[in-house]
Amino acid sequence: MKPRPEIQHLSSVPHGAPNYAELEDLGLSADQVIDFSTNSNPYGPSPKVQTAINEVVIDRYPDRDCLSLRRALSAHHNLSPGKILGGNGTAELIWLVALTYLQPGDRVLTLGPTFGEYANASALMGAEIHNYRALAEEGFAFDTSRIEQILERDQFRLVFLCNPNNPTGQVLSLDAVNQWVQDHPQTLFVVDEAYINFTQDIPSAVGLQSPNILVLRSMTKDYALAGLRLGYAIGNQEIIQALKKSQPPWSVNVLAQVAGLAALEDQAHLQLCLKQVRKAKDPLIEDLIELGFSPVPSQVHFFLLPVEDGAAFRSRLLEKGIQVRDCASFGLPDYVRIATRRPDENQQLLKAIQKIET
Ligand SMILES: Cc1ncc(COP(=O)(O)O)c(C=O)c1O
Repeated sequence: MKPRPEIQHLSSVPHGAPNYAELEDLGLSADQVIDFSTNSNPYGPSPKVQTAINEVVIDRYPDRDCLSLRRALSAHHNLSPGKILGGNGTAELIWLVALTYLQPGDRVLTLGPTFGEYANASALMGAEIHNYRALAEEGFAFDTSRIEQILERDQFRLVFLCNPNNPTGQVLSLDAVNQWVQDHPQTLFVVDEAYINFTQDIPSAVGLQSPNILVLRSMTKDYALAGLRLGYAIGNQEIIQALKKSQPPWSVNVLAQVAGLAALEDQAHLQLCLKQVRKAKDPLIEDLIELGFSPVPSQVHFFLLPVEDGAAFRSRLLEKGIQVRDCASFGLPDYVRIATRRPDENQQLLKAIQKIET
């Protein structure tokens, strides 16, 4: 039985995070690995999340509208709940956007190197994907005038902006984004802010509130709920309703909804974790420089590290129970991506690197 033709050209996008089959082959369990390959809060979720989850009734269907969570998010962002859609992680929302807005032949622009799901979801819908690529010799900074030229040249149905960007940790100017949104009213700009809470003083696109902008937020990274899968989209009601129509029912499970509410209420925990992670980054960078590496400056807690062979570097560290992200799938085979973790864990990373390099 042949699947749709687009499926045949689709490659599965590698990600960070444990690959359980690979760990099994190495005789390791996920608990034995320190994971620098996912960009999550290394201090874990608020203890209030576990308490809240313990009370959950699981033989009842979850609220398909995520009402309580959306109300809490609407208070958090000072927006009406009608402008918010809960999702089974931001990943589901990216796929929903493609499913809802793309037809074969539509043009989609991505700003690379970037998160692979934008192109993958768009390819499944038969879209034509154009990829602007930031340059290593410019520290992977976004060249906004080049992007502007691309936007002027072609009419795009969707533009995916990852801000701050994975894997480079570069940030786009919100003034530039606002200008593009105004100049191209027929294009939907999807701004993925999965990592915005890890930055300081970087304004969010949530404030722009144009009819052709959709902001995606993840609660798996800063709130450390990766295993539960939780994200949300913020946009005008027309977009939110259209996305909702494409979404499978009950896609946000009851544990995720309850955990999201508890996590959101404990802002003190979040802020403390973020502060500690920010504080741990500079010493890690300095130690890597001392070992002879040249980490690429970034505006978040994760960063690119040039190495000779990213895949080999990752494999050798994984054998020692340390996981980093091999960046070959971003078109950067001679880099790994490392997310800052707790100071004691960062020390273990440095020790493991010293061992494999000698
Ligand atoms: C930029 C970006 N967006 C979205 C996601 C997916 O996040 P979630 O866990 O909320 O599905 C990731 C995960 O790595 C990511 O890097």
